Order: sequence, then C-alpha cells, then structure tokens
Amino acid sequence: MRVSGAAATFLLLGALGCGAAAAPVAASGPVAAGAAAEQGAASGAPAPSLAAASATAPPDQPAAPVNFSHKVHAGDNQIGCGVCHAYARHSPNAGLAPASVCMGCHKFVGKDKPGVMTMAAAFAAGHPVSWTRVNRVPDHVFFSHQRHLAKGIECKSCHGDVASMTLDVKVHDLQMGFCMDCHRQKQATVDCLTCHK
Ligand code: HEC
Ligand code: HEC
Ligand code: HEC
Ligand code: HEC
Ligand code: HEC
Repeated sequence: MRVSGAAATFLLLGALGCGAAAAPVAASGPVAAGAAAEQGAASGAPAPSLAAASATAPPDQPAAPVNFSHKVHAGDNQIGCGVCHAYARHSPNAGLAPASVCMGCHKFVGKDKPGVMTMAAAFAAGHPVSWTRVNRVPDHVFFSHQRHLAKGIECKSCHGDVASMTLDVKVHDLQMGFCMDCHRQKQATVDCLTCHK
C-alpha cells in the first residue's frame, strides 16, 4: 500500500483509530514488555521505556534489528511525536509505543519495506524488537519531561530536529552545564536538590 502524503496518512490513521495522540498506549506490547519493569522501578509510572527488551528474548535469539527513521514518520508523513511517545506530556518519561501500535499502521502500510517485514515477523513470533537508547541521565539525576513541556519548551531544544533524522543522534550531551545554562536563562531553579535527590 502506498501512502503518498500527510493527508492520506491521517485519513488512514483515522480509519485505524491509531491517530489519537492523546490515547495512552498499553504497556503490554512486545516492545514494552521487558522494559516495563525497569521503568516502573525508576518512576512508578506505567510507561514503557526504550531500553532493550532483551530480558524477555531467548538468549540464542537476539531481537531483530529494525532501522527506524524519524524522517519517514515525523517528517515525511507528519506523524505527531505523541503518537509514539505518548507519555512525554504527562510523566517524567516520554515512553515508546509498543509494537502493537506500530503494527496498527504496519498491518497496512509499508508492507514491502524490509524493516517492516522484519518487525511484522518479530511481532507475529512474539519476539520484542529492541531499541538502542540514546539519551540517558545518570541515576542520581532527576529529570521530568512533563514539567518542561508544560512550560512550552519544545522537544527540539533538547533533542534537536528529530523529524529530519534518519538515525537517532544525540544532539546535546545533556550534561549538567547544558541543563544549568537554560535554567539560568529562563530563571528556573538551579538549586542542587532540584535535580539531585
Ligand atoms: C501512524 C502510522 C504509523 C505508525 C504508528 C508507525 N508507522 Fe512506520 N511507517 C508509516 C508510514 C506511512 C511509512 C512509510 C511507508 C512507505 O513509504 O511505504 C512507515 C515506514 C516504516 C518503516 C520503513 C522505513 C523505510 O525505510 O521506508 C519502518 C521500519 C517503520 N515504519 C517502523 C515503524 C515502527 C518501529 C513503528 C512503531 C514504533 C512504526 N513504524 C509506527 C506509518 C506508521
Ligand atoms: C511512528 C513512531 C514515532 C514517532 C511519530 C516519533 N518517534 Fe521518536 N522514536 C521512535 C522509535 C521507534 C524510537 C527508537 C528508535 C531507535 O532506537 O532507533 C524513537 C526514539 C526517539 C528518541 C531517542 C530516545 C533515546 O534516548 O534513545 C527521541 C529523542 C525521539 N524519539 C523524539 C521524537 C520526537 C521529538 C518526535 C516528533 C518530532 C518523535 N520522536 C516521533 C518512534 C517514533
Ligand atoms: C528540557 C529537555 C528535554 C525536552 C524539552 C524533551 N526531552 Fe526527551 N529527554 C531529555 C532527557 C534529559 C532525557 C533522558 C532522560 C532520562 O535518562 O531519564 C530524554 C529522553 C527521551 C526519550 C527516551 C527515554 C524516555 O523518556 O522514554 C524519548 C523517547 C524522548 N526524550 C522524547 C522526547 C519528546 C518526544 C519530546 C517532546 C514532546 C522531548 N523528549 C522533550 C530531555 C528533554
Ligand atoms: C531549554 C531549557 C531547559 C533545559 C535544557 C533544561 N531545563 Fe529543566 N527546567 C526548565 C524550566 C523553564 C523549568 C521550570 C519549569 C516550571 O517552572 O514549571 C525547569 C524545571 C526543571 C525541574 C523542576 C521540576 C520540578 O518538578 O520541580 C527539574 C528537576 C529540571 N528542570 C531538570 C532538568 C535537567 C536534569 C536538565 C538537563 C538534562 C534540564 N532540566 C534541562 C528549562 C530547561
Ligand atoms: C538543572 C539540573 C541540575 C542542577 C540544578 C544541578 N545539577 Fe548536578 N548534574 C546534573 C546532571 C544532568 C548531571 C549528570 C551529567 C553530568 O555529569 O554533567 C549532574 C552531575 C553532577 C555531579 C556528578 C559529576 C560527575 O562528574 O559525575 C555532581 C557532583 C553534581 N552534579 C553536583 C551538583 C551541585 C553541587 C549542584 C548545585 C550547585 C548541582 N549539581 C545542580 C544536573 C543538575
């Protein structure tokens, strides 16, 4: 099936019922399965994380690699960040859509693409697809997406122009200096205990 533009995509989404960015995704898909525990321990939030779900994959069966392109999704097809990172506005973690959400579209879209075929096969077999986490602050640092987004700070300020990326890259080092520079500039708190509990 070919989807030639944003309008077509959104029509398709409406039909599938997976265009509702606000609808929280169940943390029960293969992508989320192995990661839920980690995230739950860290924050108490029921958000799936990007951490590799390899804990649930048999050791002899590494999860299939799938190259995910933000450019194809968030850029060319203008799918909102919240469709796949549904928790960002409501919790510390941005979260990542479980494979069931990916498959909601990919049962129909891009079935001829190698990456989609790999993903569909893994999904059918109940194997998780694992993603390499790019951004992470150390455990002693507290960070919350919700608070920043509520202040109108865009994803871009910290993650760069993700919608044009074919491969995820870390644009900012997320070092203390990076956090502090903006906090000073926006007159947000620089109290040590804000970020270090
Ligand atoms: C809202 C619909 C939608 C959702 C949800 C979605 N995709 Fe896609 N995806 C697309 C469209 C549209 C394309 C472009 C297909 C084409 O060009 O034929 C695409 C293409 C792809 C491709 C092939 C990229 C290439 O090289 O052309 C992969 C791999 C992929 N998606 C993976 C995923 C994964 C993983 C998820 C879940 C995290 C996901 N998709 C969720 C709509 C979606
Ligand atoms: C169709 C689903 C989808 C959409 C839409 C989407 N993402 Fe993603 N995002 C993913 C997947 C899948 C990964 C993991 C990819 C990987 O590891 O290669 C990811 C990873 C990321 C990461 C890296 C996280 C980390 O630390 O490893 C950031 C940052 C990110 N996305 C931001 C965004 C922003 C900003 C938007 C909107 C402009 C967006 N995403 C839209 C599916 C999506
Ligand atoms: C003020 C800076 C900032 C903004 C704005 C921001 N992020 Fe993040 N993001 C971070 C930091 C820092 C991490 C690493 C957090 C950690 O290790 O707990 C991160 C991690 C992530 C991750 C991977 C881990 C997770 O939380 O699931 C994703 C996906 C992500 N961001 C997506 C987004 C999206 C989508 C937006 C916009 C809706 C956004 N971010 C806005 C700083 C930011
Ligand atoms: C682009 C600007 C910007 C960047 C970068 C930024 N922050 Fe913030 N941060 C803010 C603003 C503005 C506030 C104040 C929000 C408010 O008043 O509600 C804030 C508030 C916070 C809070 C307070 C939340 C609470 O519950 O009280 C924490 C914690 C925090 N930031 C951590 C970080 C960390 C850690 C980093 C770096 C990884 C970071 N911030 C990077 C702008 C930024
Ligand atoms: C706005 C958030 C924020 C505030 C406020 C903040 N830090 Fe940090 N701090 C971070 C982040 C993010 C890291 C981890 C990245 C790094 O090492 O730069 C960190 C790391 C550190 C480290 C470990 C450095 C290392 O090399 O491992 C120390 C020590 C530290 N901070 C002390 C402080 C002290 C003391 C204050 C108060 C003056 C403070 N921090 C205020 C965000 C913050």
